Amino acid sequence: MELFDVYPLYNVTPVKAKGAFVWDENETKYLDFYGGHGVISIGHSHPDYVKSLGEQLTKIGFYSNSIVNPLQQELAHKLGKLSDCENYNLFLCNSGAEANENALKLASFETEKSRIISFKNAFHGRTSAAVAVTDNPSINAPINLQQEVTFLPLNDLELVIHEIGKGDVAAVIIEGIQGVGGLDEGTTAFFQEVQKECNENKVVFILDEIQSGYGRSGKFFAFQHHNIQPDIITTAKGMGNGFPIGGVLIADKYKAKYSMLGTTFGGNHLACAAGISVLDVMKKEKLMDNVKEVYAYFLQEIATVPKIKKVKGKGLMLGIEFDFEVGELRKKLIFDKHIFTGGSNNKNLLRILPPLNVKQEHVDIFMNALKEILD
Ligand SMILES: Cc1ncc(COP(=O)(O)O)c(C=O)c1O
Repeated sequence: MELFDVYPLYNVTPVKAKGAFVWDENETKYLDFYGGHGVISIGHSHPDYVKSLGEQLTKIGFYSNSIVNPLQQELAHKLGKLSDCENYNLFLCNSGAEANENALKLASFETEKSRIISFKNAFHGRTSAAVAVTDNPSINAPINLQQEVTFLPLNDLELVIHEIGKGDVAAVIIEGIQGVGGLDEGTTAFFQEVQKECNENKVVFILDEIQSGYGRSGKFFAFQHHNIQPDIITTAKGMGNGFPIGGVLIADKYKAKYSMLGTTFGGNHLACAAGISVLDVMKKEKLMDNVKEVYAYFLQEIATVPKIKKVKGKGLMLGIEFDFEVGELRKKLIFDKHIFTGGSNNKNLLRILPPLNVKQEHVDIFMNALKEILD
């Protein structure tokens, strides 16, 4: 059997990883400024994480959600504390798309409505409702088009008010900072006003923090830069440092009913061990402080690099915008300088998503390589 060929590949085969680096089968060392698509939060193969997953596997790796699993409670408790979201309840699942799928479903259950407001250039995943609220017709199949979705320009409050005013909107879904779209984000005034409109009209306000969450922006969730309190927050990526896990944080006002949501694998013992270990390391190593420090250093150093139009994003979720397409630059970074970076819908933007514990020395490696290529 061959693989269903859906991914255009770079010809690199990582076989080992540690901290901010990965090695291919020829022992070539690469600096990981992409974090496997924003997934690696506490660094590759962190010793505490490896130990915790190994130990858990020797005890019990999996049992279904029909039994008591105290690790789920421990994860919820630690997540609530570290993220300062103790007044939410946690539903555990396996991926970002699944988290958004459940968030949208919950919003529809609550409001008994089905239209969703999403934003231009949004990315929320590839499953049924998640892909329907993703602004990319080429990845929506006819079956996904049954969803009622209205895409509005980011930061156009008047249009949001107008659409909500029609009375048929179940939820507004928005990324804390747009990832795949290219690092655009709502202003503080926009986030606050949208929340107010949602509250006044009983529309569920969903913050997709799948990429921008888990400390990546310098705060636990990117929306926390805007002093708002969403009704539902979705998370995945950095939550498991590579182990598949997603979560839906649900405001206390929404009441759970048996069977309204569910999953076979979500919240299994191994996933919880991964999730708990990530939170423990984030706390112990003060990773959000590190993100802020490295971000400040990054901004200082990038100012010395020529040909850059703009730096977008926050913390270690950054986009470097040029006035030319960056495809060739990315290839040179990988094959000549051995540095992974990311692309986005904005072809002129280089996406930077390193592990949250990178240091100034890693930024120096990246800056030197970038300068040499651009020269
Ligand atoms: C903001 C956002 N939401 C949702 C998703 C979907 O996550 P997953 O690929 O885990 O389904 C992604 C993935 O890139 C994302 O960036």
